[in-house]
Amino acid sequence: MNAAPPGPAELQAAFLARGYVADDALATALRLVVALGKPLLLEGPAGVGKTEAAKTLAATLGTRLIRLQCYEGLDAQSALYEWNYARQLLHLRAAELGGLGGVTDEDLYSERFLMARPLLQAIREEQAPVLLIDEVDRADDAFEAFLLELLAEWQITVPELGTIEARTRPHVILTSNRSRELSDALRRRCLYHWTEYPSRAQELAIVHARLPGVNETLAQQVTNAVHALRALPLGKPPGVAETLDWAAALVSLHADHLDAPGIRATLGAVLKLREDQLLAAPTLQGLAAQTAAGRPPGA
Ligand SMILES: Nc1ncnc2c1ncn2[C@@H]1O[C@H](COP(=O)(O)OP(=O)(O)OP(=O)(O)O)[C@@H](O)[C@H]1O
Ligand SMILES: [Mg+2]
Repeated sequence: MNAAPPGPAELQAAFLARGYVADDALATALRLVVALGKPLLLEGPAGVGKTEAAKTLAATLGTRLIRLQCYEGLDAQSALYEWNYARQLLHLRAAELGGLGGVTDEDLYSERFLMARPLLQAIREEQAPVLLIDEVDRADDAFEAFLLELLAEWQITVPELGTIEARTRPHVILTSNRSRELSDALRRRCLYHWTEYPSRAQELAIVHARLPGVNETLAQQVTNAVHALRALPLGKPPGVAETLDWAAALVSLHADHLDAPGIRATLGAVLKLREDQLLAAPTLQGLAAQTAAGRPPGA
């Protein structure tokens, strides 16, 4: 890809070539990440392609993907850098045994003992990487405040080494499932895109992009069935990931259409709660009856 930021249509085509179906709004948002150098906050339900969008952007730009997976209790230190204490101790011991005299702090706290974690790695990359701060809603407020500072300054201070400034601005993508509300300050700093479940046509295109060679009838029936399931008040509605798993499970059973035995055998690929399976049973029976009668399900 050339140095000028790719246009939305160019991005869409490049994403499709990598098996990712991006709609106009997402392609535009991703383009702005590159063109404006602003972070993008991607929110949306589980399994709608938020993480994969960042991975595909890195592949499309031909740059490194650096991923920081957030979790409760994640602190700035483990996201930035750690000192390799085991190696430092070995070094001290070797110096002692070799009679090499005193080891200075400068020796011990030098580059060779520094273990860069994702944020420091991102800052030191020569070519702007895609920095994926995944599931930022799982981290706590204190970490969010620290992130805000980093996104503003793009420099990190390692007390023993000094301040390290970013060589280039990483392309930053944050994802969230909204398990916790993020601060207004973080939202203001970012561009925002809500990733919704895809339309039927888009989801069908995703099935074909990810499972090339899948039977058209089966792909349509699975897609329509997933859309019918999402209309139910399920505890865990199926995401695109489940659509793909379901279609792949049926393909592995050599199914060429959706029928009652196939649904029974593969239900665990699409509904992951017992209550949801019970709630969806009448809908699924109805869908199987429709496909047996030769009508498209969900029609
Ligand atoms: N638009 C799409 N085009 C192609 N594949 C997609 C698309 N959306 C989702 N997928 C596929 O669905 C699966 C789930 O996507 P991903 O892990 O990115 O979801 P997510 O939104 O990050 O979910 P979570 O919130 O659970 O982390 C992946 O295998 C991804 O390739
Ligand atoms: Mg994800």
